Amino acid sequence: MTSPEVPFSQAAENNKGPILQVLQQHCQAPGTLLEIGAGTGQHAAWLSAQLPHLQWQPSDVAENLPAIRHWLSQSPNPAKAPLALDVTDQWPSGPFDYLFTANTFHIMAQSLVAHCIAEGCQRLSPKGVFMVYGPFNYDGQFTSDSNRQFEGWLKATDAQRGIRDKEWVEQEFARHGRQCLTDHAMPANNRVLVFG
Ligand SMILES: C[S@@+](CC[C@H](N)C(=O)[O-])C[C@H]1O[C@@H](n2cnc3c(N)ncnc32)[C@H](O)[C@@H]1O
Repeated sequence: MTSPEVPFSQAAENNKGPILQVLQQHCQAPGTLLEIGAGTGQHAAWLSAQLPHLQWQPSDVAENLPAIRHWLSQSPNPAKAPLALDVTDQWPSGPFDYLFTANTFHIMAQSLVAHCIAEGCQRLSPKGVFMVYGPFNYDGQFTSDSNRQFEGWLKATDAQRGIRDKEWVEQEFARHGRQCLTDHAMPANNRVLVFG
């Protein structure tokens, strides 16, 4: 299925199973899910097929949509056609029952993460949940040497990138009336933070 021309993430292949287990807990009711920063589209293609009761709407910046379309075309139960969404631009009106994003909060500048949380929370139904996968720090401390090294690599690629403090993320969600319901430990020193 893969070829040099088709964007592929080994990390997405590795973490999709553990992410599914978390989503199965928090996405039991049928509903709409907006995925922000879908990347290659591997999560959208596989997770949407495992969770057919969800209307899965992948999104990312426009340049990533061809890859997402490719991966969706390989899926037995494809998600909706991907939406061009740069979080700084106009968002779809929603409301959505679920929001999901993986490995984006350390890629976006911190001000963009705050913006993404604000815009997302505005479009989340009152009982909806916003699930965020990725590495986080606790009280300003790295949870592993590998995350510390990863931070060095992130800063070398773009000084605005960086692993966010869980407490800061919580504070931003609290501004929009959402609390951290669960903090799931995941393989490879990642977490899923679930806000609702
Ligand atoms: C490390 S990749 C993660 C991709 C995928 N979610 C995964 O876990 O494999 C970060 C993603 O964030 C997206 N992203 C970065 N800035 C963005 C923005 N301003 N608006 C929307 N997506 C953005 C990138 O396009 C990219 O797909």
